[in-house]
Amino acid sequence: MGTVILGTGSCLPEKRLSNHDLEKLVETSDEWILSRTGISTRRISGKGEEAFQLGTTAARKAMAMANVSVDEIDLIIVATMSSHMTMPSCACFIQKELGADNAFAYDVNAACSGFLFALDSGDKFLRVEQNKKILVIGTETLSSRTDWKDRNTCILFGDGAGAVVLEYKEEERGVVASNLFSDGTLWNLLYMHAASSSNPELEQPDNPGVHILMEGREVFKYAVKAMEAAINDLLIRENIEMDSIDLMIPHQANIRILKKLVSRLGINQEKVFINVQKYGNTSAASIPIALDEANREGRLKRGDLLLVCSFGGGFTWGASLLRW
Ligand code: ACO
Repeated sequence: MGTVILGTGSCLPEKRLSNHDLEKLVETSDEWILSRTGISTRRISGKGEEAFQLGTTAARKAMAMANVSVDEIDLIIVATMSSHMTMPSCACFIQKELGADNAFAYDVNAACSGFLFALDSGDKFLRVEQNKKILVIGTETLSSRTDWKDRNTCILFGDGAGAVVLEYKEEERGVVASNLFSDGTLWNLLYMHAASSSNPELEQPDNPGVHILMEGREVFKYAVKAMEAAINDLLIRENIEMDSIDLMIPHQANIRILKKLVSRLGINQEKVFINVQKYGNTSAASIPIALDEANREGRLKRGDLLLVCSFGGGFTWGASLLRW
């Protein structure tokens, strides 16, 4: 018995921004970006492609695959940190767009780990309310939070959305277990201010604007160590050997983080799904986009053991195991 993914969907903006395009914005080169990050191009939102709109399209595709109608959805959980409004939540906008009148909806902000945290919340909800159906969506338009003059960060991120439909089934498959962590003491290695306060008592004179700021090298070191520990810990706890994993879908941050992680884990590289070259780091959307691509490419067979892991601002990180 377990929380099963009935369907997956994703949505990417039309516009592509290549490394050569970035050469015109900041002092960088295709060669530098490719060798340091593995990213060639990324998608950038335009009109009609806000986070809730990308998320809505991804959700419709996931529901179509799951053969689930919108009236059957009881809960919508959205992982994002780049909605066009702080309130109402992105989830409420998606609920409105879908016409999901029977669903309640809320957002989760765990930065790049958002989808994993939202999936865990959905899983826990369904273990209690077993006859419900849930949409879990990761959607981001980080292009709206990027300082396009900062070459340290603007080369990394991209926009997109992915979604899954969850249901609890009396079958020997679904979410096996999760291992999630946060460490707020390290907030200042990767962060983004909210809009400045209009309360004069709470002025933030050092607020540089709503942009992502990052100590790249530190993030790199923590990301590899933290994901490795979370995964090894989870496998030991569940008494599962690394060789039993059929497919690993890591958060697509950058190729060097992934290569280092893969070599430290000792997992066969061919079992690791990578699409960071096409989309860059889409934060909370990266895992559900990759999951949907892997699913539609036929990389996932019934009974396969899937490992997902992520790391992001907060810091937040973790790993989950799913029996497909
Ligand atoms: N183009 C050309 N040169 C650049 C660029 C650029 N875009 N950015 C930095 N440089 C220069 C620097 O100025 C520096 O020059 P200097 O030696 O003359 O001072 C040199 O390149 C090396 O800079 P570093 O920052 O040390 O480069 P590094 O090899 O660490 O690569 C990077 C930077 C790619 C950001 C790396 O640290 C990294 O991948 N960190 C992880 C960050 C990440 O993935 N964050 C996403 C959010 S968290 C997550 O999703 C896991």
